[in-house]
Amino acid sequence: MGLLQRSDAATRWFSLLAPGYDAVVSQLFWPATLQREGLERLDLSDDDTVLDVGCGTGETARLLVGRTRSVHGVDLSAEQLETADAKAPLDGCDFVRGDACSLPYADDSFDRVVSVGSVMYWEDPRAVLREVGRVTRPGGEVLVMGFNRRRSSVASPVRNVQDVVNAALFYRHGPEEATELFRSAGWTEVDNAVTGPAWSPSLVLATTARWPSDA
Ligand SMILES: C[S@@+](CC[C@H](N)C(=O)[O-])C[C@H]1O[C@@H](n2cnc3c(N)ncnc32)[C@H](O)[C@@H]1O
Repeated sequence: MGLLQRSDAATRWFSLLAPGYDAVVSQLFWPATLQREGLERLDLSDDDTVLDVGCGTGETARLLVGRTRSVHGVDLSAEQLETADAKAPLDGCDFVRGDACSLPYADDSFDRVVSVGSVMYWEDPRAVLREVGRVTRPGGEVLVMGFNRRRSSVASPVRNVQDVVNAALFYRHGPEEATELFRSAGWTEVDNAVTGPAWSPSLVLATTARWPSDA
């Protein structure tokens, strides 16, 4: 298990990162181009009610504003949420503090759920995905973007070092593991794409899935 794969550790980590989060971490690991490409994998409609799990400073929410009827976000970190709350373009969004393992929403509340850069901190990803299913309407969709668990490569020593560090800190999964994980949490139509920022094009795995219509 990664050292940061716990709610208390993630809360402390993001308190530390908060002051420079948008300027450094967001640009480096989760640039808007990468997030847009992930969101394109969903059948988003302008009538959708969307939840962003681990919404952080609201950079994913920013890409949803104007594209969907309403945007809600939940995050562990008060500091990250303060930054999101201060962004004028996000005035219409509803951000709350909470833990992904026990989402503060009624059953069947959302048409789509997105989560970018948060799954790596979830202590029990399967339990969170079941909880995400609970708040998703039957037939609704999820998009989860997290770190890809890559095989080491003799041709890429720098990438190997990066992956050793990531393995120590974070939860990661590869495409086959993600498919098994999402299915075991009750999701169908699981689809994976390996992607990443320009400097590390296979760093990220984007997974979409559908909550069954008869759930
Ligand atoms: C990389 S940041 C999110 C970035 C956000 N998608 C954006 O682009 O602005 C990951 C976020 O996940 C949140 N997080 C981690 N574990 C969580 C959990 N169990 N429940 C809710 N939020 C969590 C962290 O507090 C952090 O703000």
